[in-house]
Amino acid sequence: MINVLFVCLGNICRSPMAEAVFKNLVEKENLNEKIQVDSAATSSWHIGDPPHKGTISKLKEYNISTEGMVGRQLEKTDYEKFDYIIGMDASNVTNIREILGQPDHPKIIRFLDLTDHKKDVPDPYYTGDFQETYDLVIEGCQALLNSIKSNHEDQFN
Ligand code: 4NP
Repeated sequence: MINVLFVCLGNICRSPMAEAVFKNLVEKENLNEKIQVDSAATSSWHIGDPPHKGTISKLKEYNISTEGMVGRQLEKTDYEKFDYIIGMDASNVTNIREILGQPDHPKIIRFLDLTDHKKDVPDPYYTGDFQETYDLVIEGCQALLNSIKSNHEDQFN
């Protein structure tokens, strides 16, 4: 099993969006038995909260469910549990490294560094633009799945 964790500041906008989109992709490709997905926050601000209503309604437009999703905070033990720990922006990556006590491990990645964009995912909590974020999340998730498939070729044949 390959375990993927998306991380942002609040775990209500970007990382739950990436979790739901990536799960959807994994289901469509019938890879549920091989890839598990979760998300978490670097902050404690929204522990137990559902995703932001902007994230829920944007995903609904594309028939992607957020049912049962609630915010949680990244924990030190997540380091051992996950194979890919993906920050949605550079400050998330800095905070992930600090929380996990892992200054420089290759399993900690900035999401859009897997694409040609190589930039932060804009935070719709501040921009209000959930479409812009969704479009980048789709692209990043596709790139992540391709990367996982090529990194673990033995498991995907
Ligand atoms: P997220 O966005 O990190 O994409 O979930 C935010 C959510 C909440 C807050 C900031 C950013 N906040 O200040 O509560």
